[in-house]
Amino acid sequence: MKRITDAEENTEDTLVEESIRPTTIDEYIGQSEVKENIKVFINAALIRDESLDHVLLYGPPGLGKTTLAMIIANELHKNIKTASGPSIEKPGDLAAILSSLEPGDVLFIDEIHRIPRFIEEILYPAMEDFTLDIVIGSDSQARSIKIDLPPFTLVGATTRAGDLTSPLRDRFGIVCKLKYYTNEELKQIVLRTSRVLNMPITEEAALSLATRSRGTPRIANRLFKRVRDFALVYGKEEIDLETAEDALNKLKVDTLGLDEIDHQYLRSLIEKFNGGPVGVETLASSIGEEVTTLLDVCEPFLLQNGFIKRTPRGRVATGKSYQHLGINYQENLFM
Ligand SMILES: Nc1ncnc2c1ncn2[C@@H]1O[C@H](COP(=O)(O)OP(=O)(O)OP(=O)(O)O)[C@@H](O)[C@H]1O
Ligand SMILES: [Mg+2]
Repeated sequence: MKRITDAEENTEDTLVEESIRPTTIDEYIGQSEVKENIKVFINAALIRDESLDHVLLYGPPGLGKTTLAMIIANELHKNIKTASGPSIEKPGDLAAILSSLEPGDVLFIDEIHRIPRFIEEILYPAMEDFTLDIVIGSDSQARSIKIDLPPFTLVGATTRAGDLTSPLRDRFGIVCKLKYYTNEELKQIVLRTSRVLNMPITEEAALSLATRSRGTPRIANRLFKRVRDFALVYGKEEIDLETAEDALNKLKVDTLGLDEIDHQYLRSLIEKFNGGPVGVETLASSIGEEVTTLLDVCEPFLLQNGFIKRTPRGRVATGKSYQHLGINYQENLFM
């Protein structure tokens, strides 16, 4: 199922993502604390002419981890090599990547929590002493050899910092948590994308998109692209508030970023189950969705934003849900 409000990357995003990604740290909007720290560390590394300490970036999908990794390499004036946890299946895969690095290079490993543990151990000496310890041959023939690596910076990204083993986590000198963006920051991101893609948008229309983007730049950019299509078909040279709202309503993304499935979820919880508590399995079958869809894509946002609560007896709708759907809270308490 493809939702416009899903923060995970889809193939359509990938097509234009490269052109709208900021390339310098000053173009990177928001995350001011992370940005300030990284700036200092990059400058220090440049002044000392040393490689930057290893960096771990973590946070929910679509908040700018890959973008920041690329910016780091760019600001260091170094090349970036990229790999992802699931694609590293054998120790040799990682050894090949590590031995291809040039001095000062950035090695970006996305989804780093998905590297199998026995391969992850190769990273420890590589990160700590820039050496590669590998075993060649097998059984009685096996011997271990040590190869020196050039100094490099590992930038690891993960959406699940809790899944990282502590020996790996401890080897990152710089650990940055990316946060959800404010509406004002998302508005700036939309305005920037509008300039890059050469389709003007008014400030108020940009803000309207921002408030529906679930704190996530990837969603803001995706909404912008869809709204731009509507504007094009309507023959508008600029996206104004009316065009934006009309398009967003047609796309069924409401003013707080809830989409149709979120609405079905909350309506069912409130109208069929008196606001809960009800188990997620029952709820899923009542709206004809997979349990995993509700667990992975609907509930994190609804929980985080206080629309629902998770209790030992099941899901409960909060007053905010009743209010957002325009249903009287009191009435339902006594039903
Ligand atoms: N701070 C920012 N300023 C401007 N644009 C941003 C910013 N952060 C992210 N973006 C935009 O949002 C999109 C998604 O960002 P990115 O791919 O870096 O997210 P991610 O955290 O790596 O996601 P995932 O967890 O799915 O890998 C990109 O198109 C990028 O241009
Ligand atoms: Mg990424």
